[in-house]
Amino acid sequence: MDMPDPERLPASDRGGEADIAVHWPEEPLVPPPRNLRRPPHIAEPGLRERFRRDRFPAYFDEYAQLLTWNRRWDRTLDSDHPPFYRWFVGGTLNASVNCVDRHLPGRAGAPALIFVPEAEADPPQIVTYRELFDRVNALAAYLARGLGAVAGERVTLHLPMTPDLPVAMLACARLGLPHSVVFSGFSGEACGLRIADSRSRFLITMDGYFRNGRWVDLREAADRAYRVAHAQGHAPERVLVLPRTPGHWRSERPLRAPVEADLEAELAGYRSAREPARELASDHPLFLMYTSGTTGRPKGVQHNLGGYLAYAAGTTYYYQDLDPEDVYWCMADIGWITGHTYIVYGPLALGAQVVLYEGIPTYPDPERPWRIAERLGVTVFHTSPTAIRQLRRLAPNGPGRHRTSFRLLTSVGEPIEPETWHWYHAEVGRGAASVLDTWWQTETGGILCSTAPGIDPMKPGSAGPGVLGIHPQIRDEDGRIIPPGSHRAGALVIPHPWPGQMATIWGDPRRYVETYFQRFNTSPESTDWNDWPYLTGDGAVQAADGYFRILGRIDDVINVAGHRLGAKEIESACLTVPGIAEAAVVPVNDPVKGRCPEAYVSLRSGTDPSPELADRVTRAIESRIGKIARPTHVWIVADMPKTRSGKILRRVLSAISNGRPPGDLTTLANPEVVAEIERRVRSKD
Ligand code: PRX
Repeated sequence: MDMPDPERLPASDRGGEADIAVHWPEEPLVPPPRNLRRPPHIAEPGLRERFRRDRFPAYFDEYAQLLTWNRRWDRTLDSDHPPFYRWFVGGTLNASVNCVDRHLPGRAGAPALIFVPEAEADPPQIVTYRELFDRVNALAAYLARGLGAVAGERVTLHLPMTPDLPVAMLACARLGLPHSVVFSGFSGEACGLRIADSRSRFLITMDGYFRNGRWVDLREAADRAYRVAHAQGHAPERVLVLPRTPGHWRSERPLRAPVEADLEAELAGYRSAREPARELASDHPLFLMYTSGTTGRPKGVQHNLGGYLAYAAGTTYYYQDLDPEDVYWCMADIGWITGHTYIVYGPLALGAQVVLYEGIPTYPDPERPWRIAERLGVTVFHTSPTAIRQLRRLAPNGPGRHRTSFRLLTSVGEPIEPETWHWYHAEVGRGAASVLDTWWQTETGGILCSTAPGIDPMKPGSAGPGVLGIHPQIRDEDGRIIPPGSHRAGALVIPHPWPGQMATIWGDPRRYVETYFQRFNTSPESTDWNDWPYLTGDGAVQAADGYFRILGRIDDVINVAGHRLGAKEIESACLTVPGIAEAAVVPVNDPVKGRCPEAYVSLRSGTDPSPELADRVTRAIESRIGKIARPTHVWIVADMPKTRSGKILRRVLSAISNGRPPGDLTTLANPEVVAEIERRVRSKD
């Protein structure tokens, strides 16, 4: 049995997720399915041999060769200035050409996107590669000729899950405008901060969208975003608003010229325009994706064109195992990295047929996904453990009632516990599909750990070994490698660069070095990449067979239903409420969402505790970040457990929230507060 020992984790005093990792015993291996329709791409003879460690970095040329280049690269990897890397140096290309134009000969009439509106009465709408080409060109022509956008300028997209979002991303990519997609569930304020940080010239948004049967207004968010960005010193020049339904405005709010414009009307003169794709250097920035980390300020993870797109295409080819014949459905939102890589860039680069679903999986009932999959003939399905848990809980026999034909089922975003894994495998996949637990991050661009579909034995609860060309390690507090099979947990690191790796943090290269590389770098002057292992922020344990089990974050990130939130960001939101003196936010175990944030606040003198005050804290969090960050509970406490130097010991609060003993209290200046907090939380007082 391979039980990790989380006590050895190099965790901070904050009480990271890995501290409360659910420990299931090691499961026996499940053999891969037999009778495959065709051999998986990854079974190609000699492939794994070619990706042998001693062929680094040349093996990644194979990924780049999946793309169409204007000019071939001269050098696979430039690592002269670690940890800043350039991939496929000297090469030039364009992402929209790779995802659209190059599929026109032969596949113009094939579906690129199959849009499924949330309302079940609205039939799926097919966007062919030809139509995608037309729409991308029209928007690119308008941005370039109508607004004078030039390569390098940023565009923020606050758009829901309709074809307009991939169209807008690819139009930006066509011109070399790095896009910054803000998840549509994020508040206007969160959007405004991202506009200001990226200094975006334009914001593209929508009047609203449907979610769980209700209309969600996005115009209000756009207003707020504009004002917040303005207050930060960088208002966008134009706010371009699309109607959710062409020709039909649902918003009452008038458009404020000259800043706001109806993008549908603006595009009228460009419908048949053709806009030449810019020939861009491989290290041109393709997009920014804001994500949470240890500070209150989200960071703009920057991904560059050639390396990212090659890695997206390569991992989609070998791990989602896609062919143009596949109907592929990834139920994530494009507003997160999973959607960027495994809805838009990877699958479209391969010319696949991509399902885009507007709504939530449980609307109008928890069998909706299986009806969609049956109707569209989905062969490869990708989702999160939270969605699987929800669907299972609400309709355990749901999948069996539909004629689905999945050959590959993948999971991402959080650990998937064996019980949920087995249901996914047996009920959704009828025991005949491979199940992949794919581990990666916003920063990594694509999958880093997974079993190989169709050929590797699968281990429920374990993400599997490093993928092709990736050789992860577990390190202890002192940076020493913990060997596989030693049953000791540690920090998961990637000891070498890879093409999907982020290029930097937008506008803050120093933070990039400090956040991801300083921890295990022993010689800051070194120009050898071997001295710059990448710190993932996750705790993990590696079994003797090389499979990694991810235990959760060892830093201040809380993964809620596969969505990444910063504890510090939530704490900052709490502190905006008058009367709140201190705030501490900790992860608490949740049977469906994996983890949820729970907030502890203390009050300024003269402020009285009340349920209304706790409500105000919750509302502040929702308006600063979004409803996804809503805490399960706001505990108003007399004082926080603190060290003698005044630091709040969050690990004590995390233990209390999770019903564990609070642990060693000898470093506390005020141990007496702990018992009182414990009593309140236990009695839900
Ligand atoms: O803690 C890990 C968890 O999600 C974090 C990354 O979040 P984000 O950047 O939003 O990207 C999510 C989608 C790639 C990781 O640091 N995580 C992701 N996949 C898994 C996972 N935890 C366990 N198992 C996974 N398969």
